[in-house]
Amino acid sequence: MNALTVIPQPLAADEFGARVLAWFDQHGRKDLPWQQRPTPYRVWVSEIMLQQTQVATVIPYFARFMQRFPDLAALAIASQDEVLALWSGLGYYARGRNLHTAAGIVMDIHGGVFPLDIEAVVALPGIGRSTAGAILSLGAGQRHAILDGNVKRVLSRVLGVTAWPGAPAVERDLWLAAELYTPAARCAAYNQAMMDLGATLCTRGRPDCARCPLQQGCVARHGGLADAIPASKPRKALPVKSTAMLILRNARGEVLLQKRPPSGIWGGLWALPECAVEEDIQAWAHRQLGLQLSAPLRGAAWRHTFSHFHLDIHPIYAQAENPSNLVMEDSATVWYNSASGVDRGLAAPVLRLLDPPVPVPRKKT
Ligand code: ADE
Ligand code: SF4
Repeated sequence: MNALTVIPQPLAADEFGARVLAWFDQHGRKDLPWQQRPTPYRVWVSEIMLQQTQVATVIPYFARFMQRFPDLAALAIASQDEVLALWSGLGYYARGRNLHTAAGIVMDIHGGVFPLDIEAVVALPGIGRSTAGAILSLGAGQRHAILDGNVKRVLSRVLGVTAWPGAPAVERDLWLAAELYTPAARCAAYNQAMMDLGATLCTRGRPDCARCPLQQGCVARHGGLADAIPASKPRKALPVKSTAMLILRNARGEVLLQKRPPSGIWGGLWALPECAVEEDIQAWAHRQLGLQLSAPLRGAAWRHTFSHFHLDIHPIYAQAENPSNLVMEDSATVWYNSASGVDRGLAAPVLRLLDPPVPVPRKKT
């Protein structure tokens, strides 16, 4: 954000709710099957199905499920196999198992009536705080905030939350904001609208801010931050490995290269011989390569980063005195003349190490 960006004044809570509700009246979805004759049971089943699955996919599953299990008691007395058969194709089968288990619990400890107390709902398997809020607002007309993935994204953008929203402290703040903005009246319409806004306008990839009822107060829109919010999870620190790469030259100035095995890093490419950083280089080369080295010099190390680790590369330059003794029993070892123009697939560090052909060594080994 540059210094000239105007940060919008935040919308007051009542203004926020009023805009979302006005948008819902014009554009919100009102014809979804679970919005017809909503009950806690029907909304519960729909919310669980919708947890990792798109609305269009859920609709036929919901219809079959309700046909077979029209109420909670019917679900509770079914076998798990039958429940999972109706779940087949929806994925994340733990959702179906939890639904069935929870139905049994409601029969046992709530007398078969879906609980209307949010703590009791959250205590059921498979129901988190946001899903409980959705069930009791959409299905029982209570006022509860929700904070599913869509709502998290909308609120993070409106408020300009650039931290990763999965961090507990950030999530706590987002819950506070969700509570603040949730209106006392028409909570069901408001919650449905927030989910619809996130699913249809404030999408992950390309938010359609021009149509958004919250655009006047949205920090992400005014600051050009929509792409950066929600921030992704910080990457774990990568482990650091180190290796010594040997730049061994013969009397003709050719450099010893070895072909890497086909799998692993630089698979199939030509690379420099490598050993542990702390090796005695002369003893190692004698043992492993049959080479007598003179004047080994250590160059400056640098870091090469792969997707899963950092590799600190320590170059060591040396002259090979008796190249004829070289152990070269296969074609996987060559003396390479970088001036010959022979095209070989060279690993990136080889290119870098051979690029200034004359090294600038720092200290003597
Ligand atoms: N995703 C989760 N709950 C939803 C709902 N009630 N409507 C649309 N998408 C949803
Ligand atoms: Fe999302 Fe744009 Fe609306 Fe902000 S203005 S909430 S970024 S759609």
